[in-house]
Amino acid sequence: MKKLIRAGHVIDPSCGRDEVCDLLIDGDVIAAVGANLPEESVDEIIDANGLVVAPGLVDMHTHMREPGFEAKETIATGTAAAARGGVTSVLAMANTMPVIDRPERIADLYARAEKDAVVHLYTVGAVSMGMQGKEISDVEGLLQAGAAALSDDGVPLMNAEIMREALIRMKPSGLPILSHSEDGDMVRAGVMNEGELSRKLGYKGRPAVAEELLLVRDGMLAADVDGYVHICHVSTKGAVKYIRMLKDAGVHITAETCPQYFTMTEEEIEKQGAMAKVNPPLRTRDDVEAIIEGLKDGTLDCIITDHAPHTVEEKKREVPKAPSGMVGLETSLGLSLTVLHHQLGLPLSFVVEKMSTAPAKILKLNAGTLQVGAPADVVLFAPNETWTVEPEKFASKGRNTPFAGWELTGRVRCTIVSGETVYDAAAEQ
Ligand code: DOR
Repeated sequence: MKKLIRAGHVIDPSCGRDEVCDLLIDGDVIAAVGANLPEESVDEIIDANGLVVAPGLVDMHTHMREPGFEAKETIATGTAAAARGGVTSVLAMANTMPVIDRPERIADLYARAEKDAVVHLYTVGAVSMGMQGKEISDVEGLLQAGAAALSDDGVPLMNAEIMREALIRMKPSGLPILSHSEDGDMVRAGVMNEGELSRKLGYKGRPAVAEELLLVRDGMLAADVDGYVHICHVSTKGAVKYIRMLKDAGVHITAETCPQYFTMTEEEIEKQGAMAKVNPPLRTRDDVEAIIEGLKDGTLDCIITDHAPHTVEEKKREVPKAPSGMVGLETSLGLSLTVLHHQLGLPLSFVVEKMSTAPAKILKLNAGTLQVGAPADVVLFAPNETWTVEPEKFASKGRNTPFAGWELTGRVRCTIVSGETVYDAAAEQ
């Protein structure tokens, strides 16, 4: 099966391509990129006039909830949401029930994905057994079973000895430990950013320094053993500063942030209650500006979603009793394009690099590129199309977004995984 994507604006940060041309897919790989590719023996022609053609997005931080929390999300619904968001590869975090802390659970997840996933699904293994922070998991066994990285995300890993040993044992693979950096003792029972507003609202806070403390510890540990650490969902100005310092010192440290941290502040908790509750929490305007600076200067390598679906009933609870997290797969590209490209004037290639090429590189995935021979994972999006976020239209089971009603500019039109169209906006209208 040959597909010719005709006359799109092809953006491929992996080789610096940024021009209007054609792209030919043969089976499940990219077969050619260039001007006026011949139409002979092509089965399908996609007119990409006015559309950006980019490598499919790689979201290295999602919660697919299966097994155990299928009321929130399943592999089928979560990966359908990914397809709708232009995401062709997802990493599923290990905080399921049971926790993905042994090789046979990795194998089970891959068997489920084989059956139900519509995009590439990679699973993360837990660093500690049961994510309890007491006993290290079988690092080599998890890697051998296909873990894409290791993380206790959702629960800060407070045991420095386990973190250090995990960094040592992960090192030969060149893959990182993904660190949920918040000091667990300092944030316990905290529901929002600590500051004037949390005091006014009477909520227990999660101080910025709790995030900074743990990331500095993990950066120091990575430096000590020359291992690879990746800091999850960075949200504070201080975190950006310390990551920058660690990078300058030559530490193998990479970092991600999410659209919610460069578009929203803690004030949303006052306006939207539990819908805006997330860990780490939404911070202040100063933090938002520092996150944008960090993205611009490369301190923050990539943009991910931390897609964390919860049920409607759970999110209706009062703030302290509701679970933390927000869905993001279906809004992340639109939000990033709206703010970073349209409002701040950063190039389209900047957004594509942060959402596709950079995370693929950190994880050593064969993704994030449109070069000949690469897997045919492609997103087509209309950079100037305006749309409104309507959670009831989500493919995700989760409706918990604080962005409902936002008008965004930049919309996914088509998502292709291994040469097959898995989402087509035209078919939805
Ligand atoms: O808000 C969050 N929700 N942060 C996390 O780290 C975990 C996630 C979840 O699993 O719901």
